[in-house]
Formats: sequence, structure tokens, C-alpha cells
Amino acid sequence: MKVAELAIILLSSLGLVVSGKVFQTLSHLKPQYRDNVQSAAVQDLLYRLIGDRSYEFVVTVNSSLTGNDGLDTYQLSSLGAGKVAVVGSSGVAAATGCYNYLKYFCGCHISWSGVQLQVPSPLPKVPSPITVKTPNRFRYYQNVCTSSYSFVWWDWARWEKEIDWMALNGINMPLAFTGQEAIWQRVFLTLGLNQSEIDDFFTGPAFLAWGRMGNIHTWGGPLSSNWMQNQLSLQSKIVERMRSLGMITVLPAFAGHIPQGLLRIFPKINVTRLGGWSNFNCTYSCSYLLDPEDPLFQKIGGLFMTELIREFGTDHIYNADTFNEMTPTCSDPVYLSAISSAIFKSMVNVDPGAIWLMQGWLFVNNPSFWKSAQIRALLHGAPIGKIIVLDLFAETSPVYQSTKSFFGQPFIWCMLHNFGGNHGLYGNVKSVNSGPFEAMSFNGSTMVGTGLTPEGIEQNDMIYELMNEIGWRSKPLNLTEWILDYSTRRYGQKNPNALTAWQLLLKSVYNCTQNWKDHNHAPLVRRPSLRMNTEVCYNQSYLFEAWKLMYLAAPSLSKSATFLYDLVDVTREAVQQLVTQYYIDIKTFYEIEDLENLMAAGGVLVYDLLPDLDNLLSSQSQFLLGRWLKDARKVAVTPEEASLYDMNARNQITLWGPTGNILDYANKQFGGLVQDYYSERWSLFLWCLIESLNTDQPFHQEKFNQAVFSVEKAFIYNSKKYSSTPTGDTIDIVKNIFIKYYPKAVKVNDVI
Ligand SMILES: *[C@@H]1O[C@H](CO)[C@@H](O)[C@H](O)[C@H]1NC(C)=O
Ligand SMILES: *[C@@H]1O[C@H](CO)[C@@H](O)[C@H](O)[C@H]1NC(C)=O
Ligand SMILES: *[C@@H]1O[C@H](CO)[C@@H](O)[C@H](O)[C@H]1NC(C)=O
Ligand SMILES: *[C@@H]1O[C@H](CO)[C@@H](O)[C@H](O)[C@H]1NC(C)=O
Ligand SMILES: *[C@@H]1O[C@H](CO)[C@@H](O)[C@H](O)[C@H]1NC(C)=O
Ligand SMILES: *[C@@H]1O[C@H](CO)[C@@H](O)[C@H](O)[C@H]1NC(C)=O
Ligand SMILES: *[C@@H]1O[C@H](CO)[C@@H](O)[C@H](O)[C@H]1NC(C)=O
Ligand SMILES: *[C@@H]1O[C@H](CO)[C@@H](O)[C@H](O)[C@H]1NC(C)=O
Repeated sequence: MKVAELAIILLSSLGLVVSGKVFQTLSHLKPQYRDNVQSAAVQDLLYRLIGDRSYEFVVTVNSSLTGNDGLDTYQLSSLGAGKVAVVGSSGVAAATGCYNYLKYFCGCHISWSGVQLQVPSPLPKVPSPITVKTPNRFRYYQNVCTSSYSFVWWDWARWEKEIDWMALNGINMPLAFTGQEAIWQRVFLTLGLNQSEIDDFFTGPAFLAWGRMGNIHTWGGPLSSNWMQNQLSLQSKIVERMRSLGMITVLPAFAGHIPQGLLRIFPKINVTRLGGWSNFNCTYSCSYLLDPEDPLFQKIGGLFMTELIREFGTDHIYNADTFNEMTPTCSDPVYLSAISSAIFKSMVNVDPGAIWLMQGWLFVNNPSFWKSAQIRALLHGAPIGKIIVLDLFAETSPVYQSTKSFFGQPFIWCMLHNFGGNHGLYGNVKSVNSGPFEAMSFNGSTMVGTGLTPEGIEQNDMIYELMNEIGWRSKPLNLTEWILDYSTRRYGQKNPNALTAWQLLLKSVYNCTQNWKDHNHAPLVRRPSLRMNTEVCYNQSYLFEAWKLMYLAAPSLSKSATFLYDLVDVTREAVQQLVTQYYIDIKTFYEIEDLENLMAAGGVLVYDLLPDLDNLLSSQSQFLLGRWLKDARKVAVTPEEASLYDMNARNQITLWGPTGNILDYANKQFGGLVQDYYSERWSLFLWCLIESLNTDQPFHQEKFNQAVFSVEKAFIYNSKKYSSTPTGDTIDIVKNIFIKYYPKAVKVNDVI
């Protein structure tokens, strides 16, 4: 037996001691601001939420409530004069206490798609004081991609809302990635790069996440100095607010990717040129990775960290991902350990208390490279307790089990849930409700937290609220009870149809328990072909039944904004499945050469169903292409920036790259996009199929792809203005679609 293996066995048999040690090394990761500053920040948050009613809450942060275990706690109790006391061990704990009181005593609800804040007066009494303690040190939030898929165009008002949401939901460890390019720019100028070399390195705003990870460069750029300034001042506000609420911000660190221009200045440095990423060739990809043992590595890492901390301060935890979706040039464990050891060294050289937060995505993404020996080597490049690994997609592909709990390094169990910010009802409630508890009780577990790592947000509110609650629970919830309560709070009243609809959703779209890669591959949002994936992970009868029930609930809940959002979302999902049904029909008619029926089905799809879907989406502001584009243009100072941002915004959700490199990865179901992008594509597809039958020539996918690429490109540059405010009456539109299409959906001839 090898010495290393023996050490592992020894370590895992000492499970408790290990986690004790782990905790020792992490005890400095805690809120920096004084208790009274945090209390005031929570009181302000409550004021933003409920105005003058916030004065009925007495919020206190008392950090001595955090015991030796460092675990967050809150207490709720009633005071005289109808007031409620909320005491938290941190600002986040107090805010979580407030939201739990609002939820479970007042029946309120707060989500991305809207709030329901009818707070009863006087405030309901807390019969006897309640104390709630988290089982884990950290509740983490964000994926490195969320910056690009969701936050890219945000202003301070939107950030403020999100940070409030984080605090209310108990999140105490968010990424704080905004504005890092401004710091890099300073570092590169110091090193002697000129502006055109820097411009060549940075991607455009909508692609920064992948520029940061060394996947691509240049595409969508350059970044203007206006952009840099804007993001820098945003970040100052972001980290200040996060810290005042008691959060531990995670800042970026140097992972080794460098601009090509540095080779001009330092011709002797040891670099590896990585290969192209995801169908990108070297025009926009193939980045340079500086050998971590090259002295310049420590120099760049040191310059960056020093400048970063000077500008933003630090909470002593840093994220760096060297091999995200990139295969290292060598699988020798010695090499991999040397790399992680150099990266870690560049952090501790500047901040002796540095902890490295690493995404565990690489292990899921490329398991054939990352075998036990490679994973262990990478993770053991820094002392035990100095790396926290995000088990990034733990609800579907947990890594901790096959790595003996990350070979002793602490980890955070994360729900990834969403790819590319796609729309689509989806979730794995079963795993979310049990996975974290299984991970905590795993033999030798080094788990130190739970987290959310969606690539894009503002979809599927329910599953995120559930995951956030799990972060504060010590055992699984009764989901049957939970969902009833959720639906009542969300709409502000008990509605039997809505309740039943949610139960059906819970056992269909939200119960995708297979190892399912949640990517919306519905034919609707994919480039048409005769070989499209039409599978779904649930029984569609339940979805259509839920649709009917939501439709029936509409007259009673028409005043609820969150209900209208859900009505659109469930109808959207039903229409998405109807599009699949039409696609299957079209394909069948084509195969049996039934031109007449092919044209009939195609006509309905392109001239009726898709326009209906576009109208539906256009009736709710969360589903507007115009809003996404307006937000992008709003960041611009000059007309040139405005058109560059418009291009970034359109390209990301469609072609994703100059030539459709990751075509439709970040697809969205937006009003405007359905009509001018998806529908145009379907129209051309039908035309080609009809042409094929008419001329008795086979359908050529390759030829079609070339032709449809022009249609896709035309959308990017169509310079059309899309409305950023909703139009049309949601309930009327749903009614119209329901009456026309429900019979087709359930394949019966009479509507209820
Ligand atoms: C935990 O793992 C250790 C070391 O492999 C083993 O000795 C012990 O029996 C395990 N405990 C349980 C409860 O499985
Ligand atoms: C904070 O909590 C500790 C321990 O419960 C208590 O002794 C102390 O009085 C509290 N401080 C304040 C300011 O409430
Ligand atoms: C930057 O340096 C490169 C290489 O020497 C040169 O080609 C380019 O013109 C320079 N750009 C500027 C703006 O000086
Ligand atoms: C460059 O780095 C590689 C990979 O770490 C190493 O094998 C090689 O010896 C280095 N070359 C020089 C000249 O240091
Ligand atoms: C690489 O991609 C660019 C941009 O998409 C394209 O213009 C160029 O022709 C490609 N180069 C090669 C060698 O394929
Ligand atoms: C969950 O709650 C429902 C309704 O109260 C109850 O019927 C059911 O038995 C509970 N399930 C479990 C597993 O406790
Ligand atoms: C979810 O699916 C699993 C099987 O994969 C089943 O055991 C469970 O009962 C389902 N849950 C609900 C709420 O339908
Ligand atoms: C889907 O649900 C319906 C309604 O309960 C049921 O009749 C049908 O058998 C189910 N289909 C499958 C494949 O389970």
C-alpha cells in the first residue's frame, strides 16, 4: 500500500478530528463589521422591503451567539406593543430570521419574479421564543458563469435587490467578481502591456466569465474605460453592502491564464498554449497558461492580489479555476500538485490567511482525465483545510462520495440546477431534499456548507427557495406540506386549483430524479433537424393537468403578480411541449411523404402556435427580449458601446460565438426572440422539407444549416427595437391558447 493511501485511510477514520481541524483553519472566515453595523444594515433591508412596518421589528446582531462551532443562529420572540425581536449571530442570520418570520407567521413571499408582502397588522405573536441554528458554516451562492448569463447588465438598484435576497435567504458566502478587469488592466499596464494587447485579451461584457477562465479571449470586446469605471464603482458598493450584512465575499485570484502580449515582454517565460475551447478555434481561444513554477507566476499573482485587496479589501477567501473545461497538458500527479501549490502560494504570499475556493466542475466535466490520483494530487497541493471545494453539481453528480470527501479538503454541497439561464420548468426536489443530509452523514465527511451554483437565475423560483431553506435545516422537509404552504404564500391566498397544480408540478417537472443533464434541449429552442431530442424527464399528463388547473385558478388570482408570472411560465412549458408534438407530426408526415398534412401541421406551428407563444411571453416583463436588450444598452455611454452591448446581448442567447460555436446553449424563451429567431428558423425548415417533397430530393441537413445560419445571423444585426414593457392581457392570451390547444395537448376532442 502506498503511503498516500495509508494517510487517506488514517484521515478518514479520524473523521471528526479532521472536521474539527478543518474548522480551526476556517474560523477566521467570519463577518468583519461590528454587530451594530450589521444590525443597522438588516434594519435598512427591512425598510426597503416593507417600509414603515419595519419599525415593528427590533433587529439585533450579537456575534457571541455564534458558539465555538461557528454556526449561525437566529432567535425570534414577541416584545410588548406588538413588536417582534429578531436576534442573529450575524446580519445574514438576523435577515434569515426576519424572512422566516415573514414567511411562517405572516404568510409572505419574496422571489426573483415578484413579492407577496401583505404583512398582517398587528404583527402575529411568536407564542414562545424560537431558536434556529444552521448545521453548516457556509451557505454559498453563484456560479462563475452567473456574472455573464444574469448579472452582466445590472445596475446598483438590481444588485441591491439581489444582495437583500441573499441575506434574507441565509446566504453568507457569495462570489464578488464584478470589476476585476479594471484591476487586471492596472496589473497588465504595470507589466508593460500596451492598450491594444489588453483589448485583445478581454472579451466583451457578455462573455467575461469565459475570458476569466481562459476559455476565450477578444470575442465581443473590447472593454471600454467607461465599462471599467462603471464596474469598479459597482463592485465597491457590492462588497461594502455584502460585508455590512455579515457576508464573506469571495474575490477572484490568479489562475495562470495570461495575455499573449506578455510573451513580447517576457519572451523566455514558460507557457503552455491550451487548445481551442468548445468549437472555438485559436482566433478567439487557445489561451496561454503560465507555468506555475515560472517566477513570473508569483509576480503576476502577487501584483493582482495586492491591487485587488488595496481596492476592495478582503474576507480572505479567493476563487481560482485553472482547468475549467480545459485539459491539463500532463496528468502526472506531481505536476498537478505543483500547479495547485504554486497557485495557493501566490495567494498566501499576499494574504497569509488566504483560503482557496475551487469549483469542482472539472471533475464532473472530464472524469476520464480526473481520476483519483489526479484529483488527490491537485487537492493536496495546499494543506488540508486551505482549499474549499464546491461540489458544484451535487444534486445530480456528487463528487464527494468517489473522492473520500475530497481527500480531506472541506467541501460545499451545491445545487447547480440551471445551465445557460435557460427557461424551462425543472428540478430534482428529491435530491435537494435529501442530498445535503446524506453528505453531512457520509463517513469522514468534510462538508462545511450548502450552496447554489446556477449558471443563470431568475427562473424556477421554487427550487431555489427550497434549497435555501435546506441550508438551515437539519433534516429533510415534508415536501407535500411545504409545497402547499409555498403556493399559499406565493399567491397570498389558498387556492385549491393552484395548490393541486403545484402538487402535480412537484411530481413531474420538479421530480427529475434520473441523472439528467438539465439543459433545455426542447426542439422549440434548438436548430431544427430531423433528429431532434424529444425526450422529457417527466410524465407530460401531469404538466398539462397543472396547466388546466392554473388556467382555472386565473380568475381568482388575477391580482397576484407572482401568479401571473407562473401562469405564463406553466403555459410556456405546455406550449414548448406542444411544439414538440407538432415537430413529431411534421417529421412523421415528411417521412411518409404526406405533403398536405405536413403543410397543415407546419402552418399551425409557424402561423399560429409560435405567434401565440410570442404574445404570451410579451405580456410579462420577465420574458421580454426588449428588457434584456434595453438593460444592455443602458450601461453604454457612447453609441458605439451601445451597439457592441446590443450585439453581445443578442449573440450570447443565440449563436454564442461568431459562427454558432455553442449554438443556443443560453437559449431563452423571450417575447420577440420566439418570433424573430426561433420561428424564422422553423419556417425555413418547413420550407426546405416541402421543397424536398416537391422536388423529390432528400433533405440536406448541411445545406439547411448553412442557410439557417444566415437567418440566425440576421437576428443579431436586425437593429430592430423590441418593447421593454409588457403588452397584452396575460389571462386573455392564456385563455385563447388554452381553448385552441388543450385538446391537442391531451389528445382528446372536448375541452372541459
Ligand atoms: C468509517 O470509515 C472507517 C475507515 O474506513 C471505518 O473504519 C469505519 O468502520 C467506517 N464507519 C462506518 C460507520 O461505516
Ligand atoms: C449577546 O449574547 C450573549 C450570549 O448570549 C449575552 O451574554 C450578551 O448579553 C448579549 N449581548 C447583547 C448586547 O445583547
Ligand atoms: C502594442 O504593441 C504591439 C506589438 O509591439 C504593436 O503591434 C501595437 O501597435 C502596439 N499598440 C499600441 C496601441 O501601441
Ligand atoms: C516548463 O513547464 C513544463 C511543465 O511544468 C516543464 O515540464 C518544463 O520543464 C518547463 N520548462 C522549463 C524550460 O522550465
Ligand atoms: C477561426 O474562426 C474565425 C472566426 O470564427 C474564422 O474567421 C477563421 O476562418 C477560423 N480559422 C480557421 C483556421 O478555421
Ligand atoms: C407529509 O405530510 C402529509 C400531509 O400532512 C402527510 O400525509 C404525510 O404522511 C407526511 N409525509 C411524511 C413522510 O411524513
Ligand atoms: C419522485 O420520483 C421518485 C422516483 O424517481 C419517486 O420515488 C417519488 O415518489 C417521486 N416523488 C413525487 C413527489 O412524486
Ligand atoms: C402519466 O400519467 C397519466 C395520468 O396519471 C397516466 O394515465 C399515465 O399512465 C402516465 N404515463 C406514464 C408513462 O407513466
